[in-house]
Amino acid sequence: MSLSGRQRACLEAIGIPRWVRRNLPVAADEPAASHQSRLEVESPAPEPEACPVEQMDWPRLETTIRACTACGLHAGRHHAVVGTGDRQASWLIVGEAPGEQEDLQGEPFVGRAGVLLNNMLVAAGLTRERVYIANVIKCRPPGNRDPQTEEVSACLRYLERQIALIEPDLILIVGRVAAQTLLATDAPVGRMRGRVHYYGSRRIPVVVTYHPAYLLRRPIEKAKSWADLKLALAQRGR
Ligand code: URA
Repeated sequence: MSLSGRQRACLEAIGIPRWVRRNLPVAADEPAASHQSRLEVESPAPEPEACPVEQMDWPRLETTIRACTACGLHAGRHHAVVGTGDRQASWLIVGEAPGEQEDLQGEPFVGRAGVLLNNMLVAAGLTRERVYIANVIKCRPPGNRDPQTEEVSACLRYLERQIALIEPDLILIVGRVAAQTLLATDAPVGRMRGRVHYYGSRRIPVVVTYHPAYLLRRPIEKAKSWADLKLALAQRGR
């Protein structure tokens, strides 16, 4: 039976070794080494992404994201930023994309916006270790520009898989780009915040609030973000 690269990769991922044909006829004058290389040509190693993203476990997903070349952003990255925190967290925080510091350190929200996000979490009785923090886009857009549609399309499946693996009780979305992407709308944050949305077939409650970088520019809006955090906290036990 001949297996596709994708099938071979999935078998390998669940620990079933690759089938290698043993009874190839070897010509009398053919050296053993060339017989071996014929076997290798027949059974190429699976490409890292041959297993569908929606079936990947954490290690495979992480490796795939770090090796991803699905859009042009990979060319300028120092690190692909997978995410950080507790993979069994009840809360998932979703931001937009890594900035300069995140790209250098390989971790989301470690710059100035990250300090504010950490403080917001502590104010809500949480810490960044107790939640999981991820971005829609895993590689830094140059100059922190908005991600382009094709970059979002290439990357979104990774966040979708992270959501499926974490199974959070609540998703807190910070900022317009992440909110518009996950909720498939073009509404501004001002219209999405202040109420509960639902994500996916599990109807995970979603609360949208302002991006911490925006709050650094417009501290007057912090009171609204605090109200959004309280709305998120109120979803516990519902
Ligand atoms: N802004 C984001 O949306 N994500 C980060 O990781 C950092 C800044």
